[in-house]
Formats: sequence, C-alpha cells, structure tokens
Amino acid sequence: MNNNLIIKNASQLVTCSGFRAKQGKEMSDLHIVENGALIIEDGLIKSVGESSLILDNLDTTGFDVIDAGGKAVLPGFVDPHTHFVFGGYREEEFSWRLRGDSYMDIMNRGGGILSTVRATKAAAKESLVSTGLARLDSMASFGVTTVEGKSGYGLDHDTEIKQLEAMKEIDEKHPLDVVKTFLGPHAVPGEYKGKEEIFIDYLINDVMPEVLERDLAEFSDIFCEENVFSIEHSRYFLNRAKDMGFKLKFHADEIVQIGGAELAVELGALSADHLLQASDMGIRSMAKVGVIPTLLPGTAFGLKGSYARARYMIDNNCAVALATDMNPGSCFTESIPLIIALAALHMNMTTEEIITSLTINSAAAIDRADIIGSIDVGKKGDIIILEFPSYQYLPYHIGVSIVERVIKGGKVIYDKRKGGISNCLLT
Ligand code: NIG
Ligand code: FE
Repeated sequence: MNNNLIIKNASQLVTCSGFRAKQGKEMSDLHIVENGALIIEDGLIKSVGESSLILDNLDTTGFDVIDAGGKAVLPGFVDPHTHFVFGGYREEEFSWRLRGDSYMDIMNRGGGILSTVRATKAAAKESLVSTGLARLDSMASFGVTTVEGKSGYGLDHDTEIKQLEAMKEIDEKHPLDVVKTFLGPHAVPGEYKGKEEIFIDYLINDVMPEVLERDLAEFSDIFCEENVFSIEHSRYFLNRAKDMGFKLKFHADEIVQIGGAELAVELGALSADHLLQASDMGIRSMAKVGVIPTLLPGTAFGLKGSYARARYMIDNNCAVALATDMNPGSCFTESIPLIIALAALHMNMTTEEIITSLTINSAAAIDRADIIGSIDVGKKGDIIILEFPSYQYLPYHIGVSIVERVIKGGKVIYDKRKGGISNCLLT
C-alpha cells in the first residue's frame, strides 16, 4: 500500500477548514462538503471538494481508492495534553480516592506523582517504549493521529532524559506523531521541599540545555498549583524556559484559583491547561491575547471535581481545545469517546464545538495548525472515517468509538473491520 489515496463519496466531508485556532462563534462552523472527496498524494492533501467536481476525468493509476459512501470523514483527532510515558500504575490510589482521600492528600504524603516518579526511575527505557507504543495503538483506535506527551516522572536529569528519549523512539517506531514537552517541574522532590527555586535552577542549568540541544522537547510545562509550584516559581521557570527557546504551556488553575490563567496571558503562553478554577478576568484576557484554554474533562470526572467553564470561555471568544490528559494518576484514560461525552453532557459544548476542539484547535494548542487539524490542501493526510453518515453520531453514541478507519499520512493504520491496528500495521 502506498500513500497516494483517494477517499470519495463521503456523505459528509467535515473539513474543519482553517490554519489557525478558531475562537468563540467560529468554533461552530465545521465547513462541511456533502458527497465529498479528497486526494492524498505522497502523504499530503492535494485536493478537497465535492466528489464529482474533483474526481471527474482524474487518472487514478497509482492511487488506492476508498469509497466512503454513507460515512462521515473528518480530520484525525489531535490529543494535545497527555502524560502517556510512565512506569508502574496507581490502581490502589484510585481505590483510596473512592473511599474519600483527595488527590492532593495522597500527593502530600509521598504518593501520587511521586509514586510514578519512583516507578519510572526504576523502569528500563525499553519497557517505557513498549508500554508507550501500546498506549498509542489504543489512542489510534479512537481516531487520534497526533499526540502530545510530557516528561515529568523523573524530576532528575537521567530519568527526565530517559522519558523524552523513550518518546522520541516511540515517535520513530509508531505511525502516530508525538510532540514532546519537558515537564521537569511536575512535583517537588522531597529533598527540595521549601527550596523550589534551587530545584528549578537545577532543571534550567543541568537538564534543559541537553533537552534543547538534542531536540528532545519543543514545549516547557510546569504544575502551577497551591502546594506545588507557586505563581512566582512558575513565572521564574517559564520566563527562563522562554528565553532558552521553549514554547510555553502549563498546568494552570486546576485545583485552586491562584492566577494561572493571568500568568499565561502575561507570558504569552501558547496554551493554559485544566483551568477548572480560572477567573472570569483570566478567561476574558486569554481570549484577547489568544492563549488556548486546553480543557481536560476526564480529569475533572476522575477527581470528581467541577468542570472547566467551557461555555463561558467560548461565549467570551476563547479558542477552546480538548485533550485526554492521559496519565496514571488523575486520569488514566486515552478514551476520546469519554472526553466527547463529558464535553457534551457536562460542559455544555455543542457537537460542532467539540469537534473543533479536538481537531484544528487542538492542533493549534501544539503549534501545528498549519500542518494538521483540518482537511485542507497542503496538510498531512491524517483522516478518520466514521461508521455513520454524520458527525452528529460522535456524542450521540455515548462513550463508544465509532471510528471505522484511521489514515495517517495517506496510509490506513487502523481498520476496525479488519481487527484493529496490528493487522493494518502488518500489511
Ligand atoms: O495533569 N496535575 C498534574 N499533573 C497531571 C497528573 C499527573 C499524575 O497524577 O500522575 C494532571 O492531572
Ligand atoms: Fe496533565
């Protein structure tokens, strides 16, 4: 199979057309072509339009052809916030939380993120690679074609680098694309409690130069939260990271409102993530300067918290993105159908806004709106075909994946009818 592909007769070609994040009302327009077709050549989209218009008199020699009659076709989903490379699991903590312990209580007594840090330090890079690859297979089955992944389960030079190297290897081995983020300041190691600046200086001086030099991450991130890294710590870290050449995104206003959204505006971060507690002022300022609120409803659900105020954000002209936050603690899921269900039923987002949030806006949240996130000429041929004729089935079939086929760079990498991903990868 080559990567020249024609997809024709789609009952709906949901293009999500655009090359930048869509704000507020723009999020409602999915730019749909009825009875649509697209042509992918050498992995890139060459032509998009109504089937008869672009296919009449076309010489199809050298192209695979998919007849998508009766099916909706969309851009591949982009998951712009995950922690998918880690050692060990925290199933016991999940049970503790069901009995009433809070996420922060568990973290403050040395569990939580620090427990995954211990397991990740102990893990061989090969095992991080093999578990990471399997998680990407699962993500692909939900229609994800590009995923962001963070370090942050090392908190020391060797383990942070090991995690990022594992992600680089996974990116090389797996058809999905992986965008890497350095999250060294994800928790305060025990020996640095009360000496957070010294820990941040250690990361800046002893870890991040190598990360940059070896192209191991493009973004920097910090867990800006009460009792973790304060606003002052975060401002200091992120400013230094920006000076070094990292793009910025960070965990902001997740559990306590401490001004994370405002800091993202001040620093010109690309995205601010979580934002369950973001202030009205912070939200309106994000809309003005174009910081992308990346919302993670799976985490609010998993922690039995309140949801980020997506409706208020969109009504105030923000460009909202959605992500899974897949991680072993607060949200152990890579399920896009779950995120869609929560956004629809608990965040009052419309179906169109949800699709925009998982495509062009999530591409923008990882600075890739120019190459992925929509079906536009010149972009990568990353496409999903649904089992149903309309995108409206996505939230309607609650919690169930209706993705039939996933195409990455013009090649089918997943086909539900043929038994999933591995059969496709072998062909
Ligand atoms: O996005 N909040 C901080 N970091 C992750 C959770 C990481 C973990 O619990 O392992 C999050 O929720
Ligand atoms: Fe996270």
